[in-house]
Amino acid sequence: MAIIYNKKSQVFTLHTDKSTYQMKITEYGFLAHLYYGRRILDDELTVFAEGMGRGFFGNPYEAGTDRTFSQDALPQEFPVFGEGDYRSSCIQGINGDGSYDVDLRYQSHNIMKGKPRLEGLPSTYGDEDEVNTLEIVLIDSVSNLEVVLSYSVFEKYDVITRCAKAVNRSTNKLILDKMLSCCLDFPNKDQMDILTFYGRHAMERMPERSNIRHGKTVIGSVRGCSSHQHNPFVILCDSNTGEMNGDCYGLSFVYSGNFIVEAEKDQLNQIRVVMGIEPTAFSMVLENNESFQSPEVVLSYSYDGFSKLSDNYHRLYRTNLCRGKYKTIRRPILVNNWEATYFNFNEDKLFDIAKAAAEIGIEMLVIDDGWFGKRNDDMSSLGDWYVNSDKFNQGLSYLCKRVNEIGVKLGIWLEPEMISEDSELFRNHPDWCLKVPGRKGIRSRYQFVLDMSNKEIRDYLYDVISKILDSANIEYIKWDMNRHLTNVYSKVLPPERQGEVYHRYVLGLYELLERLVTNYPDVLFESCSGGGGRFDAGMLYYTPQIWCSDNTDSIDRITIQYGTTFGYPVSAISAHVSASPNHQTHRATSLNTRGIVAMSGAFGYELDISQMTQEEKDIMREQIRLYKKQYDLIALGTYYRLTNPIEQKSYAAWAFVSPDRKYAIVNYVLLEREANPTYVTLRFCGLDERKKYQVEGGGLYSGAALMYAGYRMPKLYSAYDCVQLNFVSIEKR
Ligand code: DGJ
Repeated sequence: MAIIYNKKSQVFTLHTDKSTYQMKITEYGFLAHLYYGRRILDDELTVFAEGMGRGFFGNPYEAGTDRTFSQDALPQEFPVFGEGDYRSSCIQGINGDGSYDVDLRYQSHNIMKGKPRLEGLPSTYGDEDEVNTLEIVLIDSVSNLEVVLSYSVFEKYDVITRCAKAVNRSTNKLILDKMLSCCLDFPNKDQMDILTFYGRHAMERMPERSNIRHGKTVIGSVRGCSSHQHNPFVILCDSNTGEMNGDCYGLSFVYSGNFIVEAEKDQLNQIRVVMGIEPTAFSMVLENNESFQSPEVVLSYSYDGFSKLSDNYHRLYRTNLCRGKYKTIRRPILVNNWEATYFNFNEDKLFDIAKAAAEIGIEMLVIDDGWFGKRNDDMSSLGDWYVNSDKFNQGLSYLCKRVNEIGVKLGIWLEPEMISEDSELFRNHPDWCLKVPGRKGIRSRYQFVLDMSNKEIRDYLYDVISKILDSANIEYIKWDMNRHLTNVYSKVLPPERQGEVYHRYVLGLYELLERLVTNYPDVLFESCSGGGGRFDAGMLYYTPQIWCSDNTDSIDRITIQYGTTFGYPVSAISAHVSASPNHQTHRATSLNTRGIVAMSGAFGYELDISQMTQEEKDIMREQIRLYKKQYDLIALGTYYRLTNPIEQKSYAAWAFVSPDRKYAIVNYVLLEREANPTYVTLRFCGLDERKKYQVEGGGLYSGAALMYAGYRMPKLYSAYDCVQLNFVSIEKR
């Protein structure tokens, strides 16, 4: 069993293959954190919970004259506000008597096989032989607020998941003003960096590394979704940690709404990081026996640098977070008409694209925005999810039949959470959007947001979406969300519960998605939010792939996809070959480069194939053949970031290595043209030192030589040119 409790010392030890997490019930019943890091033996590191108190520190009353024990110095599992720990806390409440403090002490614990599902929330899952769970019950004996901390241990992935549940065991009303999911204290480290992933629309998840200083480094979202601006995934690491070496810790939030991450170095130089739902505009009212379940944080640790850490997340998320028919099988290669036609299409135009697509092996046509209501631009019709009869005079099912007959599946775009003022839905239900009484509200892309906390609206959406799905053989849905939340107020909740709306919105979204994925198990769902504005582990539970960015320029995509791979598997990163010059950046690149970049993800096309030359179609046919052939290696292999395109601006390279290390692909793109270019030598990763690898069209080298001496890459002369190298191992040395 990966979870050990020593009754005598009251120490809990959680082991994964390569890591250990340890905590202790201290004197007076506080739950102290002792250690998280590289696996240790049977040691108990209780020294880290020993009195660090000094002048001006508070002490619990029971400590009497012992001034060394202080919550303000103690590394803790779930720090509270109001009881003398002035660092970042996980919980703050308003008690029945109006007071703010919470005082949580150990009450009991339970160790079990498997992992309970979190009601209403996405979470990782596993069989009893894959994961074990520890639940620790803490209680505030004055307010009767109970908090249950859960730790689930996935040994083989070096992952521990955490979440917390608050239950009001009193007869008074309690209010939670803050309830995060997880705290990680590092009593043994006084220098750490934090790697965060910031961005904006069309340039998401740019890694940024900074030293954790005294005071707080804070990132998060108050936009109602995880956002383009910051991603709910961060890494804490040593200052010398790199791709292949050094200690690092990932924290990934399985949630798609507001979030906060605070990293802090305290007065004793100890480091703390907390993660959870952003407390701004958050308050949950708990009546007697009501509870609040925090979303899950997935922790992982690696002493082999970022590559290994990413691989832990990639493997876990592919198989123990994503669900459904398409979680591990190859998804249809699709062509999406958005950048091909924008709103300007009709049934015949789409059929022409499908026909040209079928000829080269594309398997699905996706009709993007504009097929419904009276939508010919982005000013109207969101909410009117019935077919636009001007564009489809014989309905969706007719086009569906036609494309199915030529061997192409059909998918459609939806933006269910939104409503246009100019729509039948708005005219019938002007009060269905999030809006504060008396205020006009903020428009964004000329649209408002439906109140997903309202069950009547969710039921309406379920009915209307299932009607579409039942009307034709639709096998894919792109679930878009093209604005952030404002004026967050729900008419179905009383004034004192308005602080619950942001969270209830996300729960409502999850409930609707759950109904749809359960009742339509054969439909592939892809999520999207103005590109990659809701690229998070929460959405992956419902949709195994996410549109990575509205920026389809292959050169910008190298950086966007690079940043995304730190926390998310390649199979989740939806990527398309689009036209050249690119519509967002006007940069011209070859079809070859666009293909190589898009093939490093869930692959598709987004351009008017019916207008392409025979030569271009031949290249695309070859790309499709290659992607199918390489699929297992790309989607299920180990991914290596060989260069950092933010620092190394001349060229970029990344690789895939098969689990048995027999095959590898290295993709190499020249980013800048140089006068009189010289050779670039790249050192590869993840190969078997002792195996000999045959480079397709090149020499024969040992894995050791390729990794430690490096490989002299072919010379590329024009900017944005690219080459793919294939390595196959032959017999052992
Ligand atoms: C934003 C998406 O990211 C695009 O791919 C496209 O679907 C548009 N919305 C359509 O409005």
